[in-house]
Amino acid sequence: MVSAVRAVAGGHTAAAMRVVSVAMKVVIIGGHGKVALLLARALADRGQRVVSAVRNPLHVADVERVGATGVLLDIENASLGEVTETVRGADVVVFAAGAGAGSGAERKWSVDRDGAMLAADASEIAGVARLIVVSAMGADLADPGSTDVFQIYLRAKAEADASVRARDLAWTIVRPGRLTDGAATGRITLGQDLARGEITRADVADLLCELAVTGHGERRQFDVVSGETPIAQAAAAV
Ligand SMILES: NC(=O)c1ccc[n+]([C@@H]2O[C@H](COP(=O)([O-])OP(=O)(O)OC[C@H]3O[C@@H](n4cnc5c(N)ncnc54)[C@H](OP(=O)(O)O)[C@@H]3O)[C@@H](O)[C@H]2O)c1
Repeated sequence: MVSAVRAVAGGHTAAAMRVVSVAMKVVIIGGHGKVALLLARALADRGQRVVSAVRNPLHVADVERVGATGVLLDIENASLGEVTETVRGADVVVFAAGAGAGSGAERKWSVDRDGAMLAADASEIAGVARLIVVSAMGADLADPGSTDVFQIYLRAKAEADASVRARDLAWTIVRPGRLTDGAATGRITLGQDLARGEITRADVADLLCELAVTGHGERRQFDVVSGETPIAQAAAAV
């Protein structure tokens, strides 16, 4: 359990030292997303404290059902101060929000780009060491002149990622291929500029959990699709 072990001095002698195990606090922005709900469950199963930030009050019960504490945060309408208070005290912040299929270009900018950048701003101000961002494979390959919504989505992800990479944070940018709702396989392919592919949301969630808990992948950006390498092994080799 990385950063979860703290030495506590009892008196002034080394002999009086004892070690206590403390769970990490992970704040998930976009906490009611499909990946986010699976991630909350995976983190809770590994003994971590999870706070899932959702924009709809009706979603609080759902995140609590998977082991998280629900808080309200609309990343498109919150102030920097509100986001900062939401992430304050977190060991890790995960940005898992997205405008989603069916939304127009405007929300790609306001959620996928500006939301991720706001989460990074808030994490820096709150002194959160670790920020993990769920981006998308092929983000840097977007057609810069296209008005197609998918191309705008990719550009929004790419601009957010570039902003996150420039920060003095232990960031990790995870760029999955096309997401599917299949069961977890526990095996992935992780690397740079991978050929197009798919991955289950469950495997992405388990990878995010592994990165958060172990601390692997700091200041790294990579693609991920389904594959043959066990998730823990792939994460350790990043
Ligand atoms: N679909 C793919 O094939 C694919 C591929 C690669 C990467 N990705 C990325 O992977 C990530 C997770 O995907 P997913 O399938 O889990 O997405 P999802 O189920 O659509 O979840 C996205 C979440 O973001 C939340 N959200 C939207 N606007 C928000 C706002 N203003 N404030 C707070 N939360 C807001 C949504 O809230 P509501 O529940 O209230 O709507 C939703 O819960 C996304 O960033 C997505 O872009 C997707």
